[in-house]
Amino acid sequence: MKKKPFHIAIIMDGNGRWAQKRGKSRIIGHRYGALSLKKIINFSIKKKINILTLYAFSTENWSRPYLEVLELMKLFTFSIKNFMYELHEKNVCVNIIGDRKKLSKNLVFYINKIEFLTKNNKGLILNIAINYSGKWDLVNCVKKIYFLIKKKKIKINDINENFVNNNLCLSNLPDIDLLIRTGGEKRISNFFLWKIAYSELFFTDILWPDFSSEDFLNILNNFSKRNRRFGKIFFS
Ligand code: IPE
Ligand code: IPE
Ligand code: MG
Repeated sequence: MKKKPFHIAIIMDGNGRWAQKRGKSRIIGHRYGALSLKKIINFSIKKKINILTLYAFSTENWSRPYLEVLELMKLFTFSIKNFMYELHEKNVCVNIIGDRKKLSKNLVFYINKIEFLTKNNKGLILNIAINYSGKWDLVNCVKKIYFLIKKKKIKINDINENFVNNNLCLSNLPDIDLLIRTGGEKRISNFFLWKIAYSELFFTDILWPDFSSEDFLNILNNFSKRNRRFGKIFFS
């Protein structure tokens, strides 16, 4: 594959509609969504993708019915607990990003466990956003910078793009090259804002549980044909 994206992010949307179309409860859609996730992670390992960042739960998703939120949290805990050794064996380095304050102690326990277990792995870097939002990330960053100035650790002129980046989630990783959203909506829904500044965007109507390795490959092929100019002019 020529011109492979280094950092890919996916807004995994459409689980609820997938289930509703089949007369099933939304949570069944989330369970099938988790299977799709496993498939896409394995495919990314096979294709030697460097970084995969996935949106699993936004700060706005708390406003869903209590039972759906509860089932989602259980699914996150179950998935991390059950797949951590498999991911470790496959040399995947897992980071969970987002505000952990509202997550259950049990979930945070497994988050810490998977991050510790896989932290030295050198294969795929897999970031999963749980209770994350781009605006939350930016507010956090502003607070950190405020304290650094207050404690006289930095001066106002030390603040530049690099500095802001270093105080956001995934500060050590490059910007997102390709952002994919499944499920038909054409919006960002408060996902990463800073790191998508120059991403190539790809929206597909396919609902997340139906999203296959072949669909993923088609998008990667489409990406390789895109002309990323970054504001420059190319003379042919
Ligand atoms: C995405 O699927 C998963 C989460 C937001 C947790 P949805 O649950 O949003 O599915 P739709 O968009 O309602 O079909
Ligand atoms: C975005 O999907 C969040 C995740 C996929 C985790 P939503 O279904 O929550 O987004 P909206 O409500 O359609 O914007
Ligand atoms: Mg949705």
